[in-house]
Amino acid sequence: MTKGGLLDIESLERDEIDEILARSKDFQPPRGEPIKKYDYLRGKTIVNLFFEASTRTRTSFEIAAKRLGADVLSITAAGSSVSKGESLVDTLNTLGAMRPDAIVMRHSASGAPHFLSRYLPIPFVNAGDGTHEHPTQALLDARTILDRRGTLEGLRVAIIGDIAHSRVARSNVFLLSKYGVSIVLCGPASLMPREMKELAPGIELTSDMVQAIEGADVIMMLRVQLERQHETSFPANEYFQFFGLRPEHMEKAKPDVIVMHPGPINRGREISSEVADSQRSAILNQVENGVAVRMAVLERVLLQ
Ligand code: NCD
Repeated sequence: MTKGGLLDIESLERDEIDEILARSKDFQPPRGEPIKKYDYLRGKTIVNLFFEASTRTRTSFEIAAKRLGADVLSITAAGSSVSKGESLVDTLNTLGAMRPDAIVMRHSASGAPHFLSRYLPIPFVNAGDGTHEHPTQALLDARTILDRRGTLEGLRVAIIGDIAHSRVARSNVFLLSKYGVSIVLCGPASLMPREMKELAPGIELTSDMVQAIEGADVIMMLRVQLERQHETSFPANEYFQFFGLRPEHMEKAKPDVIVMHPGPINRGREISSEVADSQRSAILNQVENGVAVRMAVLERVLLQ
């Protein structure tokens, strides 16, 4: 991790990932038992700074910080001085002068937390930067796969959808490739640049859903990131017909395949309700694991 923060998965060592995933288990009581609160971060202040829309990631970081006893405040761009024209560096310097112990940040510009962490001597946790990375999402995804499969090694994971604009896809590719997972990326050719092949050795690219799904242990669906597409002609309604995950696909998949999605899901766009709500769906397990994984990350970032 850079200077105590967590900026991306690409630069993490496998040992560090293993430690975070193992620690996250300590924060999850067995089913049916009440959630525990800890005081490991008592006296620490965490600022959650979200310049882009978020429900689960922001709430998840906030709950994680509170369960560790930290003081946490969440700021969204719409209600901050960013909407009065303040620059990003000025906003960050202002917050820095209040001496928080860590900043959790989401921004539409790729590299924004990397850039700012050079200016402020505070650990930054990247909660999603543009189309670049979303490290805690990949960590919670790995935890979810481990819970269901017991291992990552030797699995085949199909990541399907708007690959071009997905920081979730990139972080997952970086993480899964450190564990020898065979990865297939699938989507319309216009949303899957050939360069994606260079993210990690051995990645397969296809526009054929059935080819991606056959033999997969995990199907990871992605939302179409319309907010990052500047062409006005995206055929949103036809998309489901070609790249939406539907019950007929599940018949071609392994019987024990798990279906994941980082959320928010768009029912009838990239996934059908039947599949999203089925036994094979791990979508809510991902959300649940997200809190525990973020507790492990915040503890590590603030106490190391
Ligand atoms: C993802 C994100 O923001 O990158 N969502 C999330 O954090 N759970 C994916 C998305 O918005 O589609």
